[in-house]
Amino acid sequence: MQEFQGKVAVITGAASGIGLEMARLAASLGMRLALADIQQGALATVVDEFEGQGVRAFGLRTDVSRSADIQALADATLARFGQVDLLINNAGVGAGGLLWENSEQDWDWVLGVNLRSVIHGVRIFTPLMLEHAARDPAYRGHIVNTASMSGLINAPAMGVYNVSKSAVVALSETLYHDLSLVTEQVHCSVLCPYFVPTAFSDSARNRPEALASQTPLTRSQLVAQANSVKAVSSARISAAQIAELTFAALREERFYVYSHPQALAPVRERYEAILEQRNPGDPFAGKPDVRARLIADLRG
Ligand SMILES: NC(=O)c1ccc[n+]([C@@H]2O[C@H](COP(=O)([O-])OP(=O)(O)OC[C@H]3O[C@@H](n4cnc5c(N)ncnc54)[C@H](O)[C@@H]3O)[C@@H](O)[C@H]2O)c1
Repeated sequence: MQEFQGKVAVITGAASGIGLEMARLAASLGMRLALADIQQGALATVVDEFEGQGVRAFGLRTDVSRSADIQALADATLARFGQVDLLINNAGVGAGGLLWENSEQDWDWVLGVNLRSVIHGVRIFTPLMLEHAARDPAYRGHIVNTASMSGLINAPAMGVYNVSKSAVVALSETLYHDLSLVTEQVHCSVLCPYFVPTAFSDSARNRPEALASQTPLTRSQLVAQANSVKAVSSARISAAQIAELTFAALREERFYVYSHPQALAPVRERYEAILEQRNPGDPFAGKPDVRARLIADLRG
């Protein structure tokens, strides 16, 4: 995608963090914005910010785990702007802890927001983009799915999140192949950030009552939460930089987007272990103190 002026971007999780910075960058490039988030108040504030700058934007309270909400987002975008050029499936949440301690509600919540959202987004928006492409040979569409480095390596004590993001990488790679079978006008990318300072560690603020944990957090869940707070808050690449990196990839039609390419060694090691039939290595081998601290914390 080379042209952004006047084009329409649909961004989920747009009220905070990476989604908000994607929206700000898209607005600075002259795009019109359809913004979705489950936080009604924060979303309204963001829309006010854009309207105050003369940006054409609307917000729709959306629970991305619900198919009907994503359909409503698509309908509202077409009704308001008549087209969709860029879809950023970005909303996401995290839950950690030892795998066997995660509740059914943990799985339903995280897989709903992180994976079903992308399934719905791709299922509902891709046909619209393909219709635009069929009508206009100059049309260029792009879909960005926000995964994570956790879609490429499986660090311990964050299994639910790892599973959700690995599935987003698998879905995105398949989407890439499927699109290439039918069009040259619609492309896709998968964004795999490492830690970025956002409100991500406070994901539970948006956890619906119906999926609330029925039991107090276990020791491993408290440890994982503390580690997430520490890693996310001390991260040095900002959400605004992630947005810049993503839009650079859009321009280049590049599929994989990394925030920390220097941190990819564990990915190489993982695939080498798979190919050589070695047992999985420590994803944090480069930082042995992380594993040692985790063991010490878990064993008390
Ligand atoms: N921050 C990091 O370190 C990091 C690292 C890797 C990947 N990511 C991914 O980046 C994406 C954005 O996260 P962030 O870091 O900006 O966190 P954030 O918490 O600042 O923003 C996430 C946004 O998603 C929204 N959201 C949550 N549940 C929703 C739902 N059911 N429906 C609609 N919106 C919902 C939240 O209200 C929030 O505005 C997520 O997919 C996350 O998994 C973040």
